Amino acid sequence: MNIIDIIEKKRDGYHLDEAEIDYFIKGYLGDEIADYQISALLMAIVLQGMDERETALLTKAMMNSGAIIDLSAIAGIKCDKHSTGGVGDKVSLVLAPLLTSAGVKVAKMSGRGLGHTGGTLDKLEAIPNFNINLSTTEFINQVNEIGIAIIGQTTNLVPADKKLYALRDVTGTVQSIPLIASSIMSKKLASGSDAILLDVKVGDGAFMKDLHSATILAQTMVNIGKQLNKDIKAVITDMNQPLGYSIGNNLEVIEAIATLHGQGPKDLEEICLSLGSLMLVQAQKASNTKEAYDILKTNLTNESAFLKFIELVAAQNGDTSYLTNPDKFAKANNIKPIYSKNEGYLKEINALKMGHLSLELGAGRKTKEDQIDYSAGIVLTKKIGNYVRKNEIIAYLHSNKTITEAHCLMMDEGLIYQDESIAQVELIKKII
Ligand code: URA
Repeated sequence: MNIIDIIEKKRDGYHLDEAEIDYFIKGYLGDEIADYQISALLMAIVLQGMDERETALLTKAMMNSGAIIDLSAIAGIKCDKHSTGGVGDKVSLVLAPLLTSAGVKVAKMSGRGLGHTGGTLDKLEAIPNFNINLSTTEFINQVNEIGIAIIGQTTNLVPADKKLYALRDVTGTVQSIPLIASSIMSKKLASGSDAILLDVKVGDGAFMKDLHSATILAQTMVNIGKQLNKDIKAVITDMNQPLGYSIGNNLEVIEAIATLHGQGPKDLEEICLSLGSLMLVQAQKASNTKEAYDILKTNLTNESAFLKFIELVAAQNGDTSYLTNPDKFAKANNIKPIYSKNEGYLKEINALKMGHLSLELGAGRKTKEDQIDYSAGIVLTKKIGNYVRKNEIIAYLHSNKTITEAHCLMMDEGLIYQDESIAQVELIKKII
């Protein structure tokens, strides 16, 4: 078998078999196949797709590329949540401690930013000294002790995804249902949780742009999970505008802290409560979503969720003084207000453009080696449906680079206004 034949086979639209899929996963992991060849194969998969069987085989090959974590030493139902990636998506920072404050065991493995989307690990690392590298034993002990741990994939968990994820991020090969489904599900299946909620984002800022493809992705992942006896649910949620007002690592942590105090943006709070309600029922800590919603809402207002976040950060060596005093987070040297050039109801705050702009300002990586500027990003002052007057401040751009006219233009290009008022955005599109 050789990699060139496999690349050409996929390029020409044929199905790969189990041996071929195993061969390229093992070969890449063992450094026998070069980055550039795998990049070509990934692009062929993006363009030609994979059927359900190939996707399941790819998931299995990736899952078996490393250790499968056994969480049976933790009593009860272990829960995990995974987002397919969005702009301003800091849901995990709020949802994980919120769930634990209601008695759910959260054993979560998170990822880094990918393409124009941010990642939970990068956001957690914005908190000085936060340690995302626990051993499996430390991970299990911490969940047993305080009910929650959030770590990066341990080096031995789906190492194939770790390598592929970083390569996809910089080769324009993120947006593909089989690649996303196998990446997410291989990690979720290897990481040992019993109940998993998948937040499948849909809209211009998501990898899935329309409800049809988001539904196929969600269904593909739920089917893969069911085959392995996991309690998997998927919720398709809106990503046609950034979630909340802040994009960028420090800025998003600050917004998550406000949300944990019950003072966050409405859309972010609503998504956390809706996803959390489903998970509380999955974890058998509430008998229905209405009861679950009320429990979680109470825990956002009585500080128990925030206190659990402090416990989590302290357990993983993070500096909790940044949580109690968010003003300590470093500010970018340059903070530039953006004034509205138009007047009217905001029809669009293009999440993809905001994600790209945030990346340009330094909040993400353009190459595997890039360092993140934690203080960079965007703070919006408006949401879709708000009325904006001409010359009103609509956003602030934060960066340690010089903020140029081109950056401001990117911001303007992401905004569309109209004269008529706009119906409220529907946040939860579908539950699968
Ligand atoms: N999240 C993942 O873990 N993998 C993807 O491919 C996309 C989003």
